Amino acid sequence: MILVTGGAGFIGANFALDWLRERDEAVLNLDKLTYAGNLENLATLKSDARHTFVRGDIGDGALIAALLAQHRPRAVVNFAAESHVDRSILGPGEFVQTNIVGTFALLEGVRAYFAGLSDAERAAFRFLHVSTDEVYGSLDADDPPFAEANQYQPNSPYSASKAASDHLVRAYHHTYGIPVLTTNCSNNYGPYQFPEKLIPLIIHNALAGKPLPIYGDGSNVRDWLYVGDHCAAIRRVLEGGRPGETYNVGGWNEMRNLDVVHTVCDLLDELSPRPAGSYREQIAFVTDRPGHDRRYAIDASKIERELGWRPAETFASGIAKTVRWYLDNADWVAHVTSGAYRQWTDANYGARA
Ligand code: NAD
Ligand code: TYD
Repeated sequence: MILVTGGAGFIGANFALDWLRERDEAVLNLDKLTYAGNLENLATLKSDARHTFVRGDIGDGALIAALLAQHRPRAVVNFAAESHVDRSILGPGEFVQTNIVGTFALLEGVRAYFAGLSDAERAAFRFLHVSTDEVYGSLDADDPPFAEANQYQPNSPYSASKAASDHLVRAYHHTYGIPVLTTNCSNNYGPYQFPEKLIPLIIHNALAGKPLPIYGDGSNVRDWLYVGDHCAAIRRVLEGGRPGETYNVGGWNEMRNLDVVHTVCDLLDELSPRPAGSYREQIAFVTDRPGHDRRYAIDASKIERELGWRPAETFASGIAKTVRWYLDNADWVAHVTSGAYRQWTDANYGARA
């Protein structure tokens, strides 16, 4: 079996669902259920005996030790994190706590567990750490995309905390011999993404008749990858990645934010039209994010060369699936956009011009 942390969040839940569809190997799912964790994401696994959910914190050393001793996983896949840049700007403390201190506690638990494994179990064991391209900092328009050897230059409390966790993971390989793997992926989109991130926020606000907030002039560039492709890449790295290596994962799909928002508006115009006019009319340019990284782009040629992974979805196919999913799952959106979410919206957008 494998231990998945953060498996009630956006990517972790997609990973658990895909894993149990693709593989016949049990998943122990450890998640703290912060605002971003949602058991509804895992509802279809309710009667699947291969899935065990435990509510808990990766920073709880005693819990980690007990879970590893009881379930004896052959791999750990670490998704658990605070993941939203704007939240890290308004309150960085939780990011340091979960992303750095929490990852450290998880690694300490794994170190003790690993020491008690047989030689054969040790050789097969993997710790896969799911990270982000944001650790590399920001690119200018004509810079080459991020390669694995790029310098770490994180600019937000979120990316700095992820960078720190990546360094700890690396150190546990070099110092203690833990067979670690790290993936650094670009922006994901797809089903079950909390509507604080750009794409689900735009879909949610559009349908609610609210403004579609674009930070700055909308010319910041991100690389976008469909979440199912990210999950497939993680499975590939877990299977064939070389311990101690890092793999960049991306969609070969750089886009300006404004173009992403236009694409979403155009799809909604087609699938769920307003009584009159286009959703584009709801676009509102707002004060920029402090320290807003200009551009992220990923060179994903190493994972293709070594492990044969390439994204299966284009942006056109992935975004169409995604918009349809949100239209078909209005209940899910209604449940996650609770009172607490509305307070967050007031704090983040209330102060912007
Ligand atoms: P998310 O915020 O949707 O989910 C995070 C999950 O972790 C939630 O279920 C939350 O309850 C859980 N969690 C938070 N703190 C925890 C703790 N201390 N102990 C246990 N569980 C805890 O995030 P996501 O978008 O699914 O991202 C998952 C991982 O992938 C993160 O590590 C993130 O840095 C990384 N990543 C995300 C993206 C992206 O575009 N979303 C891109 C690249 C990498
Ligand atoms: P986001 O989804 O928060 O991901 P990240 O900051 O990790 O890349 O944001 C994606 C891009 O969209 C980023 O350049 C910031 C921008 N953005 C907006 O313009 N408006 C918004 O309301 C949000 C949430 C993001």
